[in-house]
Amino acid sequence: MSGDIHARLAALPAFPTLTGARVRLREPRTDDVDGVFALFGDPTAMRYWSSAPMRSRMQAEGRLEDMQAAFARGEALDWIIADRRSDRAMGTCTLFRFDARHRRAEVGYALGTAHWGKGLASEAVSLALDWSFRTLGLHRVEADIDPRNEPSRRLLLRLGFRSEGLMRERFFVGGEATDSELFGLLAQEWRRPVR
Ligand SMILES: CC(C)(COP(=O)(O)OP(=O)(O)OC[C@H]1O[C@@H](n2cnc3c(N)ncnc32)[C@H](O)[C@@H]1OP(=O)(O)O)[C@@H](O)C(=O)NCCC(=O)NCCS
Repeated sequence: MSGDIHARLAALPAFPTLTGARVRLREPRTDDVDGVFALFGDPTAMRYWSSAPMRSRMQAEGRLEDMQAAFARGEALDWIIADRRSDRAMGTCTLFRFDARHRRAEVGYALGTAHWGKGLASEAVSLALDWSFRTLGLHRVEADIDPRNEPSRRLLLRLGFRSEGLMRERFFVGGEATDSELFGLLAQEWRRPVR
């Protein structure tokens, strides 16, 4: 498939909504602020995140504005992972660092601890991957994680990503130098997992 990823992003009529059996990926809204703060302000959820936990609700408001602005600029798709029934924000799933020339992007994800271990993040990331390979024509999606983050590692392996190498002490988070493990998934390897 050929075609410029940025042109495809610019041609989207609106922030795409992707609906699965239990979750819906939808656009961020200002009324998601409590859900976003609950997630990004929680030290347990942020244990292996690349930045320190949020300390104020204002930071969550700022994050929501950034999520909307990044879509408007065609730089990222930063979805809210919402409960399909209640529409309440449970987490975020992000496609970012689009590289049109090499048809690749990165994926990131986070879910509130109350929702862990139910396969919800796998469902959400699956929806985003499926959409990105079909609609944007991506050839490769990358993820980089702290190798100690076992749930994240297992999620990626379950979705078909391969571990492609360890970069030592690549981030400083809260004064700690942390390793980064790179994962990659190619379009031809993508097969929606059955749970
Ligand atoms: C990573 C994260 C999104 C996974 O969410 P989740 O909805 O619990 O994941 P799933 O239920 O889809 O499970 C994914 C895999 O992790 C495993 N898993 C879930 N919780 C686990 C835990 N506490 N310990 C070990 N493995 C765990 C599941 O068994 C599953 O593996 P399997 O497919 O081999 O059975 C969630 O832990 C999270 O938001 N963490 C904080 C943010 C973060 O670190 N994001 C990733 C940054 S790179």
